[in-house]
Amino acid sequence: MARRCGRATSRFTEEIHIYPRKRVTLAVWLCLCLVFLSSAEAGLYTASDQIVLLTPENVESILVNSTAAMVVEFYASWCGHCIAFSPVYVSLARDIKEWKPAVNLAAIDCAAEENRRVCTGYKIRGYPTIKFFHAYSKADSTGQAFKDFSRNVRGLRHRIIDKLETHVEPWPPACPPLEPTSQAEIDNFFETNNIQHLALIFEEATSYIGREVTLDLLQFENIAVRRVLNTEESLVTKLGVTEFPSCYLYYPGGNFTRLRVNIEARTFYSYALQRLPGVVRSGKPPPVSLHILTNNTDEPWRQFNKSRVYMADLESTLHYSLRVELAAHTVIKGDALTSLKNYISVLAKYFPGRPVVMNLLRYADSWLQKQTADQISYEAFRDILDNKAQIPDAALPEGVRWVGCQGSQPHLRRYPCGVWTVFHALTVQANSGGSSAPREVLGAMRSYVHNFFGCRACAEHFENMARESVAEVDTLSSAVLWLWSRHNRVNNRLAGALSEDPLFPKIQWPSPEMCPACHTVKDNGEHRWNMPQVLPFLMSHFSSSSILTDYLDNETQVLEKQREKHANQQLALAQKPVERKAREALDVIQTSTTQPTVQEEEEEEEEEGPQDEAGADEEEEGGEEAPAAAAPDEMQAFKAKPSEPARWTKHTVEGVRGQWQVHRKPSIVGMRMREMREDIVDLDSFVNQHYKAKALRVAASSRVKRRTLQREKEQENGPMFGLGMELDAGVGMVGLQPMEADFELDVGQQRKQLQKRDLTGQYFGGEAELSQKKRWMSVLSIGFSKLDISLCVILYFMSTMCLLAMYLFFKNRLRLRRAKTAFP
Ligand SMILES: Cc1cc2nc3c(=O)[nH]c(=O)nc-3n(C[C@H](O)[C@H](O)[C@H](O)COP(=O)(O)OP(=O)(O)OC[C@H]3O[C@@H](n4cnc5c(N)ncnc54)[C@H](O)[C@@H]3O)c2cc1C
Ligand SMILES: *[C@@H]1O[C@H](CO)[C@@H](O)[C@H](O)[C@H]1NC(C)=O
Ligand SMILES: *[C@@H]1O[C@H](CO)[C@@H](O)[C@H](O)[C@H]1NC(C)=O
Ligand SMILES: *[C@@H]1O[C@H](CO)[C@@H](O)[C@H](O)[C@H]1NC(C)=O
Repeated sequence: MARRCGRATSRFTEEIHIYPRKRVTLAVWLCLCLVFLSSAEAGLYTASDQIVLLTPENVESILVNSTAAMVVEFYASWCGHCIAFSPVYVSLARDIKEWKPAVNLAAIDCAAEENRRVCTGYKIRGYPTIKFFHAYSKADSTGQAFKDFSRNVRGLRHRIIDKLETHVEPWPPACPPLEPTSQAEIDNFFETNNIQHLALIFEEATSYIGREVTLDLLQFENIAVRRVLNTEESLVTKLGVTEFPSCYLYYPGGNFTRLRVNIEARTFYSYALQRLPGVVRSGKPPPVSLHILTNNTDEPWRQFNKSRVYMADLESTLHYSLRVELAAHTVIKGDALTSLKNYISVLAKYFPGRPVVMNLLRYADSWLQKQTADQISYEAFRDILDNKAQIPDAALPEGVRWVGCQGSQPHLRRYPCGVWTVFHALTVQANSGGSSAPREVLGAMRSYVHNFFGCRACAEHFENMARESVAEVDTLSSAVLWLWSRHNRVNNRLAGALSEDPLFPKIQWPSPEMCPACHTVKDNGEHRWNMPQVLPFLMSHFSSSSILTDYLDNETQVLEKQREKHANQQLALAQKPVERKAREALDVIQTSTTQPTVQEEEEEEEEEGPQDEAGADEEEEGGEEAPAAAAPDEMQAFKAKPSEPARWTKHTVEGVRGQWQVHRKPSIVGMRMREMREDIVDLDSFVNQHYKAKALRVAASSRVKRRTLQREKEQENGPMFGLGMELDAGVGMVGLQPMEADFELDVGQQRKQLQKRDLTGQYFGGEAELSQKKRWMSVLSIGFSKLDISLCVILYFMSTMCLLAMYLFFKNRLRLRRAKTAFP
């Protein structure tokens, strides 16, 4: 099943850029495939667990000749002990995630029929069995079994270190030395190593902390960690060490300082060392300084306090979620509609928003609850969001303005960061408000993510987590903690991933600096969250009273902008029929000369469609992104707006009866002359009125920000010039592409978007251009009003002939092609 799905997926991927309007259907298909794929994983572990899942196909390539040592659990999915052990193994994988280049974890389900041969080959008799494979193991190696291994993370971790140390075959290249160091080695350390920091961990011989921290830091550059035993007297006396364990930073020339941590334990050492100046994750660019940053992004950098929550992020998330992400669904029905209703209802109840935003959310909520049909169009919902009905004192600010969710690159953080922030804020408000079902908020978020979140892989991972444990949530406060701990799991998984912003490394949150009381250790020195402190911290961090309102337009401005937008739309609406006719008149000239619009049957239409459409896009919606080659489906969901599906309508045209034509490009044929004349007169006066009004408005509101202005122009001028129409929603944000593979594509697509923005910026640049447009308009109208009827008739005749000729040409060509395929 999985394989079949995989094939289907790749086939569809190819089609994506060929038929942009099929994307919605494809999204559904891909989702279905994901569901099947994950249900095909019948074992105890999933791809989200950071454990390599072995199969007969990949077992050789993973275990034989690997550069990292491998720890493999052989289990049977029906065995009770294995089931009981699996959470420990998953925790272990999270715990030693940073060690991967040196030692990695894998698992195989021996209960699965297809894996039997592999398990027999490795001489597995009982379950679970854990085996250690050296780096560069031979094909005939059956590994070393862990005898009587402990069923806890700490014991297993220590066992792994023991095994690594007894490594006789070639040492895993990524693994740093683990043995204790001596005065002699330290003395010439800086001569042989070009490294900024040397951390010395003083400890007793039985302690594992030094080796654990060494491995925790193995993926970081500019730092080396060595353990020093308390018996190494010269060093102990030289540094005056009295406490074991303790950690010192040692510098060339014999200088040293003690590393300050809240508690002398592994987690605190590792956290502090990873954050030393100059220490960077290997393969990542060094964190950009704020100075460079200011020039790096398309917007000015906004200073903010990393330990605070900003309303600007919450509102930006609402805008992006409701106006951009949802817009990918032209029709919302069934499950998705229920999901939307719950989402909006939860927002209306718990979003810690300003009064105008809350009014709008409540209005949208009550509207949605009243919809009894089993589907709604996004268009209708959008009208509610934009408050077309002009309910007083209600508005959802347009556009995004990230503050706490700014990224050092335009493709980092932003929307997904905002989604997490909104989710946390909602669970916290629900808890402080009380009196709701414990899982109300989590359920709504879960189904929103499942149905709408554009990053499909994220949605799948999130669903895996939710399926596994959300049922345990039985109080409002446990809902807050559930989300916090799951978010930390995601942070753990993504630490070091491409989607991690080097300036905002993924940590187990909150950091010891942010909430010292949240962190503590068990008797054995293992890190433990101090739950009685974590909950109050979360409650205060996300409480509505501690949300900062910096960088927001005030409510009056928000309402004013909405009012302006309505006024503009009213104008545009009144203008529309006129413009359309003018454009149609223009189109017919182009159509008759360049556009093959006539097609024979639907099958062909699909073949020829894309070319047609691309052409149409350039003319009519030049601002919209051209379908990016091989754009993965999930990226499409983050697109500024879904590409409007082309409407193909069968209509009868004199001369070419019963043929298919693109509805978008009606020919002049059907038009009546008299109507045209009337319109033309209207057009002229309209243009004058329109631009006069606009000039006045521009003068009056010169204090309005340039960005808003430009957007307004884009909207107003869009229908006329066909530029900038679809750009609006994408301004200043590109969602996320956490998936590594999509990374490049995303950047590319974004660049394209930016270029286009430049283009529109130029196009609608100054006053001069304004007058030029005016001239263009009047030339158009005068030209047509003076056109005499005979010219029209000639034109009409010519275009008909042209269409006919093209129709015959394509029909002929097609017949030839068919003949070719039939007789190769
Ligand atoms: C549901 C969901 C699933 C995702 N799955 C994936 C995925 O599978 N793969 C992928 O590459 N990306 C995924 N992402 C995106 C990823 O989690 C980050 O949102 C993104 O990389 C941006 O990271 P960030 O540094 O802004 O911090 P984020 O993780 O987005 O966190 C935002 C802010 O919340 C605060 N915070 C951090 N941790 C916690 C916590 N535990 N509790 C409370 N507050 C916290 C911090 O102030 C932080 O700046 C997912 C996002 C969501 C919303
Ligand atoms: C293992 O790797 C070494 C060098 O990297 C290579 O020479 C050898 O052929 C490999 N063996 C197998 C079985 O792949
Ligand atoms: C940004 O770049 C421009 C030139 O590209 C430079 O003049 C300006 O000083 C830079 N600003 C900052 C804050 O680095
Ligand atoms: C950031 O916020 C924290 C928590 O409120 C506060 O203690 C700290 O002083 C603030 N930092 C700055 C630079 O404002």
